[in-house]
Amino acid sequence: MCFVCHGDRAPAKLLNRNLPRGVTFPDPPLKNVEAEFRKNYHHPTFEDGGVHRRNETLPETDPRMPRHADCVDCHNPHLLSSTKKYAGIPGKRAGNQYTDVTTEYELCYRCHGASANLPGRYTNKKAEFSPGNPSFHPVEAEGKNSMVVSLIKPYKEKKVAPGDVSMITCGDCHASDDPSAPRGPHGSRYEHILVDNYSTRDNAPESAFAYALCYRCHSRSSILGNESFPYHALHIQGNTATLTGGTSCYTCHTAHGSTENKYLIRFNTDVVTPDSHGQLKFVERGVAKFSGECYLTCHGVEHSPKQY
Ligand code: HEC
Ligand code: HEC
Ligand code: HEC
Ligand code: HEC
Ligand code: HEC
Ligand code: HEC
Repeated sequence: MCFVCHGDRAPAKLLNRNLPRGVTFPDPPLKNVEAEFRKNYHHPTFEDGGVHRRNETLPETDPRMPRHADCVDCHNPHLLSSTKKYAGIPGKRAGNQYTDVTTEYELCYRCHGASANLPGRYTNKKAEFSPGNPSFHPVEAEGKNSMVVSLIKPYKEKKVAPGDVSMITCGDCHASDDPSAPRGPHGSRYEHILVDNYSTRDNAPESAFAYALCYRCHSRSSILGNESFPYHALHIQGNTATLTGGTSCYTCHTAHGSTENKYLIRFNTDVVTPDSHGQLKFVERGVAKFSGECYLTCHGVEHSPKQY
């Protein structure tokens, strides 16, 4: 029904014939949301349709409930406006009342936070972005690190000048691959509905495309120039002397937040295993000193520890 106006561009003149008096289709037609849902990676609005119930409460408390994401889970077409995008979407509970969602991340947490029916491999994003964590991308609050040397303008650790951007949104990373497409995490040709490509593979060559998502905000030349972690280039590009392939940012970093470590460190345990003493951890050595140590085994190299 929504696609009558928000879908594949039907000529307004043709459609207007079938409308009640006084109602007209937008002319020129609105941006095409339907095309986004045809892309390889998209919210399962159509696959898992028909599950949404009026008066349901989210996050889901019943682990047996099937997952879903209808248009009306994210938009209340009666109440929304371009200034009150989330009007009518219930957020926090206060007694028997629900206050409307006011930020994008609160909307996402309805299904990607403490939902009892989260699929096994997925994690609680509300827990990961909590400003109480040792590190997190600055979605709910400004970040903890004041020396993110790779940041590209206008991004800044803290907002000082009016043009500085010190906070980002889920939508800065999860949105269409096409900048002219409608806003929102409807679909993308990149995995995980990402705006840009992000390779999570081990033993893969580095390129501007491989980690394009991160290089939108973090300078590729700063990262590969080892301005923060002195062994970034060695790990990301691989070691030509020993013919060891490079590895993804994903092997060491989460893109969301870490309940355990600073610097968004979270080892991908498909690639990284404990050292011979059974330890798998990152330890910082001095704040803002670019110095730490790792206990692990990776590509057959024991780190127990390796320091920088
Ligand atoms: C009769 C045509 C029509 C139908 C059907 C329709 N819309 Fe809209 N919608 C509009 C128009 C017109 C706008 C305003 C567009 C603008 O200002 O650019 C709009 C705006 C929106 C916006 C954007 C608000 C903003 O600016 O951020 C959302 C979200 C939206 N509609 C969702 C829906 C959903 C969900 C449905 C189905 C339940 C739906 N619409 C059905 C015509 C329609
Ligand atoms: C009404 C529930 C609902 C809401 C609200 C919701 N999602 Fe989802 N989302 C889902 C479901 C269902 C899936 C399919 C996978 C799953 O079950 O988690 C999904 C999948 C995704 C995926 C793809 C995961 C993958 O591995 O490919 C991303 C990314 C995502 N959502 C981001 C968001 C963002 C960002 C928001 C807020 C703007 C949001 N979602 C809001 C239900 C929701
Ligand atoms: C800095 C970019 C970035 C931001 C900001 C971001 N994400 Fe992601 N997200 C990613 C990347 C990269 C992946 C794929 C790798 C992975 O799974 O960690 C991903 C994966 C996901 C997935 C699927 C895998 C999983 O772990 O569940 C969901 C769901 C998701 N994000 C939701 C969100 C929500 C909700 C927000 C905002 C509260 C958000 N993301 C903010 C980059 C981001
Ligand atoms: C998982 C949540 C989610 C689902 C499901 C979803 N949307 Fe959205 N949609 C969003 C978000 C978030 C935005 C961006 C709001 C913003 O920041 O401007 C958005 C934006 C839009 C816009 C405005 C685009 C623009 O560029 O102004 C339209 C129209 C829209 N959605 C229609 C739909 C329709 C129709 C459906 C169902 C077929 C749907 N959405 C399903 C989350 C969702
Ligand atoms: C082998 C593990 C590893 C890999 C792979 C890795 N990093 Fe890092 N990264 C680190 C460590 C450790 C630090 C913390 C340095 C310190 O002590 O401050 C760090 C710090 C950072 C920082 C914060 C400081 C700065 O430079 O602004 C950013 C951003 C960053 N990494 C981005 C990336 C990106 C993007 C990739 C992939 C292209 C990547 N990293 C790959 C280990 C890694
Ligand atoms: C939309 C912009 C944006 C994108 C995309 C982005 N980042 Fe960031 N990132 C930031 C900002 C802003 C900060 C600064 C937060 C702070 O000051 O603590 C940051 C900080 C970091 C840090 C340091 C966090 C800390 O607490 O020490 C790491 C590591 C990092 N990003 C890695 C990545 C990786 C890996 C990717 C790709 C998956 C990525 N970023 C994509 C904006 C972005």
